[in-house]
Amino acid sequence: MSPSAACRGDFQNRHTSQLSKMLVLTFLLFGLSQVGSSRLCTYICQCYEHSDLVDCRARKLTSVPHGLPHGTWLLDLGGNVLTELRSRTFTGLWSLRILVLSESHIQQIHTQAFYSLSFLEKLDMSRNHISELPVDFSQSLSSLRELRLEHNALQQLVPPSLEHLESLEKLDLSHNNIHTLEPGTFRGLSRLRHLYLHSNWLGTIREGSFSMLPVLELLLLGQNNISRIETDAFAPLHSLALLGLEGNQLEHVKFKIFLNLHTSGTHLQLAGNPWSCDCDLHRVFSKILSVRHLHLDDYRNVTCREPWQLAGAALAGVDSQLCMAETATVLIITGAVLVTVIGALVTAEHNRKNKAKGWKEADTQDLQEK
Ligand SMILES: *[C@@H]1O[C@H](CO)[C@@H](O)[C@H](O)[C@H]1NC(C)=O
Ligand SMILES: *[C@@H]1O[C@H](CO)[C@@H](O)[C@H](O)[C@H]1NC(C)=O
Repeated sequence: MSPSAACRGDFQNRHTSQLSKMLVLTFLLFGLSQVGSSRLCTYICQCYEHSDLVDCRARKLTSVPHGLPHGTWLLDLGGNVLTELRSRTFTGLWSLRILVLSESHIQQIHTQAFYSLSFLEKLDMSRNHISELPVDFSQSLSSLRELRLEHNALQQLVPPSLEHLESLEKLDLSHNNIHTLEPGTFRGLSRLRHLYLHSNWLGTIREGSFSMLPVLELLLLGQNNISRIETDAFAPLHSLALLGLEGNQLEHVKFKIFLNLHTSGTHLQLAGNPWSCDCDLHRVFSKILSVRHLHLDDYRNVTCREPWQLAGAALAGVDSQLCMAETATVLIITGAVLVTVIGALVTAEHNRKNKAKGWKEADTQDLQEK
C-alpha cells in the first residue's frame, strides 16, 4: 500500500467512524427523548391524544419537567410549586398553543423564559406571586391572543415589556398592585379588545395611558383608588363600548372626559364613588344622561358622600334639589335687579311728574303776570 493510499484509507475510516458516531448519537438522542417523554407521560404527567395534551397539574413539581413531548399542543402545569421560570425553559416546544401556569407559586420570570414559543396563543399565569415582568417578556409572544395575569403582585408595567404582543386580544391584569400606568404601557397592542384592570391601586388616570388601543371595547377600572382623570385620558379609545369606573374615589368629574369619547356608544359605570353632590355634579350627570352616545348603566346606584345632609342618598333622588340654592340665588338677584329697576322707573316717573308740575306752575305764573 502506498503511503497516500494508506492515508486515504485512514481518512475514509475516520470519516465513516465519525458518520456512524453521529448516527448513533442521533438515534441515542432521539431514543432518549422518546424515553424521556414516555417516562414523563408514564410517571410524572398524564399525556393524551398522542401526547398533544400534557396534564402535569398539581404534581408538586418544583421545576418544569424535562422531556416534554415536542408535539405538545396544550401543557397544563397549574397548581405546582415552580417558584421561578428560568430562561429557555420551554425551548423546542414549537407546537405549544396553550400554556397554563396558574397557582404555581411563581415569583420570578427570568428573561427569555418564553423563548421559542412563537405560536403560543394562550398563556395563563393567574394566581401567582409575580411582582414584575422582565423587559423582554413579550419578545417571543407575538402570536399570543390571551394573557392572564390576574391575582398576582404586579406593581408596575415597564413599557417595552408588553410591546410585542401584537396579536393580543384579551389582557387580564386585575387584582394586582398596580399604582400607575406609564404613558405607552400598552403601545403595540393594536388588536387588544378587552383590558381588565379592576381591583388595583390606580390613583390618577393620565393622558397617554390608553393611547394606541384602536380596537379596545372593554376597559374595566373599577375598584381602584382613582380620584382624578385627565380630560383626554379616554379620548383615543374610538371603539370603547364599556368603561367601568365603579368603586373608586371620584368626588367630581368633568363632563368633557366623557364627551371626548368619540364612539358610537359607550356604557359607563360610575356607582360606588364618594360623589360630592352639588349643582355642578348634577349638571355633569344630566349631560351624560342626555347625550345619545353615552349610557349610564348604574345611575340608580350613584350615591352622594358629601354634603353630609345627603350622605347615602341616591343622586337620582336629590338631583332636582341640588341646584335649588343656585336657583334661589338667581331668584334673589333677579328680584333685587327688578326692585332696583322698578325703583328707578318710579323715581324717574316721579321726577317727570314733578318737573311737569313745575312747568305748569311756571306757566300759570307767567299767565298771571301777563
Ligand atoms: C389612594 O389615593 C389617595 C389620594 O387620593 C392617597 O393619599 C392614598 O395613598 C392612595 N392609596 C394607596 C394605597 O395608594
Ligand atoms: C345596584 O346595587 C345593588 C346593590 O348593591 C345591586 O344588586 C344592583 O345590581 C346594582 N345595580 C346596578 C345597575 O348596578
